[in-house]
Amino acid sequence: MSQLLKVQNFTVSADGVAAGEEQSLEHPFGRAVDPGRLFTWAFHTASWPGRTEPGGSRGLDDYFTRDFSHNIGAEIMGRNKFSPQRGPWEDHNWRGWWGDEPPFHTPVFVLTHHPRPSFTLSDTTFHFVDGDPASVLEQAKEAAQGRDVRLGGGVSTIREFLDADLVDTLQVAVAPVTIGSGLRLWDSPDDLLDRFHRDVVPSPSGVTHHLFWRR
Ligand SMILES: NC(=O)c1ccc[n+]([C@@H]2O[C@H](COP(=O)([O-])OP(=O)(O)OC[C@H]3O[C@@H](n4cnc5c(N)ncnc54)[C@H](OP(=O)(O)O)[C@@H]3O)[C@@H](O)[C@H]2O)c1
Repeated sequence: MSQLLKVQNFTVSADGVAAGEEQSLEHPFGRAVDPGRLFTWAFHTASWPGRTEPGGSRGLDDYFTRDFSHNIGAEIMGRNKFSPQRGPWEDHNWRGWWGDEPPFHTPVFVLTHHPRPSFTLSDTTFHFVDGDPASVLEQAKEAAQGRDVRLGGGVSTIREFLDADLVDTLQVAVAPVTIGSGLRLWDSPDDLLDRFHRDVVPSPSGVTHHLFWRR
């Protein structure tokens, strides 16, 4: 079977916003977005990678957080998901938000126009790449050695790969919060229906999972 490019556990508000403006060290998702509100559904699951206490739900939402690494061999992410810095890399001590044990466990290709050497933390190696989406995807597929590639965000990166028609499946959780302004994945989830089939699966937690796959 061919390797897929998958969006997983990406979360937007009911009005389609996935991050706010003015990202900073204190506000990784932008000033107006409280990740505790947007990602409540995921943080409460037993399989959330950041969980430090035992417990958590084992229902539908947990199915998605548990599936996060299933058959994934590489991730592609935008530079603004990796870092709040912009422009040339001034601080090489910045090694992502995730500490010494990033939750990826695969090669990660960080899109950026600014060169930086690769580095490894535990079993995750970050590579910094500049290129059109198709050629970066080719690199990531080769690194994934037959497994699928996750497209990790942020917002403009997902839109860029959708525009290039390279995304095979998306699982997007729509949270029952309204944010108003910010970085928007879509005006409406119906925007993708010209190219994707969709199942809409409500969860008892209040989020609605939208599962898209190519027509
Ligand atoms: N809601 C969610 O589920 C979710 C998930 C992940 C992330 N996020 C949030 O989304 C926000 C980031 O999204 P974003 O739209 O601002 O940025 P982004 O997609 O993370 O990154 C965009 C940046 O990536 C680089 N880039 C993109 N395409 C490139 C290409 N083809 N070649 C070279 N470089 C390329 C450019 O950086 P350079 O300027 O370095 O060239 C560009 O400014 C953050 O707040 C993050 O926390 C939300």
